Amino acid sequence: PLVSMKEMLIKAKNEGYAVGQFNINNLEFTQAILLAAEEEKSPVILGVSEGAGKYMGGFIAVVQMVKGLMESYKITVPVAIHLDHGSSFDKCKEAVDAGFTSVMIDASHHSFEENIKITSEVVEYAHAKGVSVEAELGTVGGEEDGVIGGIMYADPAECKALVEATNIDCLAPALGSVHGPYKGEPKLGFDEMKQIGEETGMPLVLHGGTGIPDEQIKRAVSLGTAKINVNTENQIASTKVIRDILNSDAKVYDPRKYLGPARDAIKETVIGKMRVFGSSQKA
Ligand code: G3H
Ligand code: ZN
Repeated sequence: PLVSMKEMLIKAKNEGYAVGQFNINNLEFTQAILLAAEEEKSPVILGVSEGAGKYMGGFIAVVQMVKGLMESYKITVPVAIHLDHGSSFDKCKEAVDAGFTSVMIDASHHSFEENIKITSEVVEYAHAKGVSVEAELGTVGGEEDGVIGGIMYADPAECKALVEATNIDCLAPALGSVHGPYKGEPKLGFDEMKQIGEETGMPLVLHGGTGIPDEQIKRAVSLGTAKINVNTENQIASTKVIRDILNSDAKVYDPRKYLGPARDAIKETVIGKMRVFGSSQKA
């Protein structure tokens, strides 16, 4: 069933695993992720960035595609459709109105006071419709959808204050993670993660899941991380398959001949992540 992230993440935090947010970019990504979740008996979050939503034809088209696939595939595991890095109240409202079951309001680039104000407005609108809300503090490094940011660690005191002021469902404190591939080993702020997890009691979200070594993922989960976002790794895996097929066969022209195998590569990647995150067999 299509659900919000709220119960999903409370259960994950209590039982010591994390639910994967896998970003969708097109039909094949959506198929692969839903099939992986069902096969692994894992809850799953379909992440939709504003850019990817636009690419797929808008939020309404995204919701209808997901609903249609869930019906065709007879999906039984909990699935959330989540706006990733929502940039404004209006974008979050648009997603909620289109049928998204969860939204992230990323007001982390605003002042702390503004972040609280915008986040509270989103919570009020979303909760009235049973939609969960994720907020962010600090800055995730790297680039996503053309938005480039330097790394800025979240301040634990601000995290506590934001949670107390806004009634959000989960919190993404940026603690050294990066969107896209890492240059060298990630340096995650585990001490702050522990402190923020304990002081806020919130399920924590780890952005930039691509390229974080499994041991660091497990350590983050043990410190209250209940949601991990992965996008680039699936993009790399699927594009590699397409590149190999096109390079080795100059005559291929049917898109199904390369998009089908690309879809299989995404599915395998997602299954691998679900096992590391511990969400397999938890639905
Ligand atoms: O919000 C989306 C994620 O943080 C994706 O990060 O592309 O580095 O896996 P990634
Ligand atoms: Zn992110």
